[in-house]
Amino acid sequence: MGNKKIRIGIIGCGAIGSQLAGAIKNNFSEQAELFAICDIDRDKAENLKADFSLGPEVLLIDELIERSELIIEAASAKISYEVAQKALAAGKNVIIMSVGGILDRYEELRALARDAGGHIYLPSGAVAGLDAVKAASMVRVNKVTLTTRKPPQGLAGAPYLAEKNIDLSAIKEETVIFEGDASEAIKGFPQNVNVCATLSLAGIGPKKTRVKIIASPEYKTNIHEIEAEGDFGRLFARTENLPFPQNPRTSFLASLSAIATLRNILDVVKIGT
Ligand SMILES: NC(=O)c1ccc[n+]([C@@H]2O[C@H](COP(=O)([O-])OP(=O)(O)OC[C@H]3O[C@@H](n4cnc5c(N)ncnc54)[C@H](O)[C@@H]3O)[C@@H](O)[C@H]2O)c1
Repeated sequence: MGNKKIRIGIIGCGAIGSQLAGAIKNNFSEQAELFAICDIDRDKAENLKADFSLGPEVLLIDELIERSELIIEAASAKISYEVAQKALAAGKNVIIMSVGGILDRYEELRALARDAGGHIYLPSGAVAGLDAVKAASMVRVNKVTLTTRKPPQGLAGAPYLAEKNIDLSAIKEETVIFEGDASEAIKGFPQNVNVCATLSLAGIGPKKTRVKIIASPEYKTNIHEIEAEGDFGRLFARTENLPFPQNPRTSFLASLSAIATLRNILDVVKIGT
């Protein structure tokens, strides 16, 4: 990379995108430049731009991809596939936060990255244990399960709730909302359980990874528990996440994990599996 600053474009100026933008300015200004930002709600992009004395430019998605070297998607599962596809086809590197949106076509994107010389980075998100699941998957793994506990508002907007007529305000005690495999979970909760998409790609795939989602008004944190068993032994990892005040669906650690992924890309030392 030499002394040349890597040009970063962020798509989505919400909780995660704004935190990342701040980190680029405050922590990585020697290695990287926030070159462009984009949001479907232009005011959000303009507000974020106002935090910077110089740049970034507010661009539309296609131009942002064309003119950036590293593209960060922090917007929505509805566009993460399109962003990854366009960025990789242009030989760029891409960090995808809305991992659920690429799950079905992951192999296609891998092939595209390989052919065009780009890379796909999927941050761990708000969960501990992916390092070990990745290492364990080098040999036989029999079982991986994710149990997610959230306050009811942490599941707001999920299509599964409308489909099953589940009223979040009627939940007064601990209630199992969903049990199934990771691909069903991501279809039902595309904005709420990206973690299960990343976990399944790190481990034994979306059909074999089991997911349970539990809601309760008593929960103050988003709790993820991963259990895995295989030739390596057994693993149990539990993370208790504080939600973002401005977006209770997202955990603070998810944006920190994106910042740490960025550091991994920019740094000469890469720690962890
Ligand atoms: N990988 C993980 O573990 C993980 C964890 C938390 C959140 N996420 C995902 O990351 C994404 C961002 O999360 P967040 O908490 O910052 O969400 P947010 O709602 O706070 O921000 C998303 C921003 O993207 C914008 N946006 C939505 N659709 C867009 C489009 N088509 N084009 C451009 N901009 C668009 C919105 O206007 C908003 O400003 C979400 O999809 C979320 O599900 C992933």
